[in-house]
Amino acid sequence: MTGQLPSAEVFIATSLDGFIARPDGDIHWLTSRPVPEGDDFGYAAFLDGIGAMVMGRESFEKVLTFPEWPYKTPVVVLSRTPERVTVPEALKDQVRVTSKPPREVLEELAAEGVSRIYLDGGQTIRSFLAEGLVRRVIVTLIPVLLGQGRPLWGHGAGDVDLTLVSARSWGNGFVQVEYRA
Ligand SMILES: NC(=O)c1ccc[n+]([C@@H]2O[C@H](COP(=O)([O-])OP(=O)(O)OC[C@H]3O[C@@H](n4cnc5c(N)ncnc54)[C@H](OP(=O)(O)O)[C@@H]3O)[C@@H](O)[C@H]2O)c1
Repeated sequence: MTGQLPSAEVFIATSLDGFIARPDGDIHWLTSRPVPEGDDFGYAAFLDGIGAMVMGRESFEKVLTFPEWPYKTPVVVLSRTPERVTVPEALKDQVRVTSKPPREVLEELAAEGVSRIYLDGGQTIRSFLAEGLVRRVIVTLIPVLLGQGRPLWGHGAGDVDLTLVSARSWGNGFVQVEYRA
């Protein structure tokens, strides 16, 4: 298939030592932090124009434990064994599970008219990075060192050069960097 692929974009928070979750998947260290009232760290602006989300099975299962399903766009969940992933009845119109490789996932979404996707989950982001398919990265650094956990980086496919777009900081110690890839 030819044509332009959707821009795959990352908006994620990590510990200063680069972890997105503790080894068991816990993110309380992130969600329990005090944040300035009414500030969403640019999240709503990022979501504006996102046509679909692509996330790993681990992230999907974590989001299913939240009190409410937070996403409005279609969601593609990646798994090597899609038949083993249970999608709740209420989400079946919105969520599909696939074992297709990253490029094919993007081609399929392009054919559906999607121009920007929100990529989530460490392993998932790394598998798109390894194929040179990530266009934009926004990372919010949380002022904590976890020592161990689930990493964001480590795609193992050589250098990825990035261009700094912006850097911002907040009084609570969050630092956000945005890059174009
Ligand atoms: N800090 C934050 O902002 C943030 C954001 C998102 C998530 N999280 C946390 O991070 C954790 C999840 O991240 P994670 O890195 O552990 O996992 P993940 O990327 O969410 O999910 C990993 C799983 O996705 C599937 N997968 C990923 N890439 C694939 C590919 N190219 N092809 C086929 N399947 C693929 C595999 O599923 P199978 O094993 O089924 O094959 C793999 O085990 C959760 O605890 C979540 O809460 C934190």
